[in-house]
Amino acid sequence: MFLPPPPFALRKMTLADLDGALAIDRLSFPTPAKRAMYIHELTGNPLAHYQVLARMGGRTDSIIGYAGYWVLADEQHISAVAVHPDWRRQGWGELLLLHMLLQAYEHPVNLSTLEVRRRNLAAQSLYGKYRFEVAGERKGYYKDTGDDAILMTAAPLDAPYFQFLQTQWDGLAGRLR
Ligand SMILES: CC(C)(COP(=O)(O)OP(=O)(O)OC[C@H]1O[C@@H](n2cnc3c(N)ncnc32)[C@H](O)[C@@H]1OP(=O)(O)O)[C@@H](O)C(=O)NCCC(=O)NCCS
Repeated sequence: MFLPPPPFALRKMTLADLDGALAIDRLSFPTPAKRAMYIHELTGNPLAHYQVLARMGGRTDSIIGYAGYWVLADEQHISAVAVHPDWRRQGWGELLLLHMLLQAYEHPVNLSTLEVRRRNLAAQSLYGKYRFEVAGERKGYYKDTGDDAILMTAAPLDAPYFQFLQTQWDGLAGRLR
């Protein structure tokens, strides 16, 4: 499996990463997630899988992005993907999404789903690049802004889609190198 070039590393999120992840959360969403929610995800939710993208160096890593998903029967539900604003538009969001989609094949599941705010065109473009299609919407789903949720699905997670992911991986590796 492709790994990000040093000094970057993709690894499982731990409780020690929460300060970094929550700082990105605050810079990324109108209503940041609560620490308790992440603690539950990491320690009390066996369906949850979270990763961080860290820049190694010095005595502590700095977290530049994170992502997570749940495995619900035959479905991977992507619950989070965010990159620190200083690090956006360099391919890291794509790396986090692609890594999760490749991980889906290890469970295995048949489809990947997510919700995204109607106004979040950057994220919708990222998901579109990975062949997520609109599967529905929920009016006023986000209570903080009243924004609608767009439901998106990538399916089936079959052999041709896996090949597509590998090709994307090769292109991204060249970009990040
Ligand atoms: C969405 C997000 C994760 C993208 O991360 P990123 O590292 O900037 O994205 P990348 O550089 O890997 O870009 C990958 C693709 O995403 C899309 N994209 C990313 N930023 C975009 C922007 N500002 N406008 C339009 N498309 C954008 C493009 O399709 C891009 O492909 P390209 O490079 O071929 O144009 C980032 O903007 C973010 O953290 N946003 C706040 C959190 C969030 O909204 N998360 C999603 C919740 S559903």
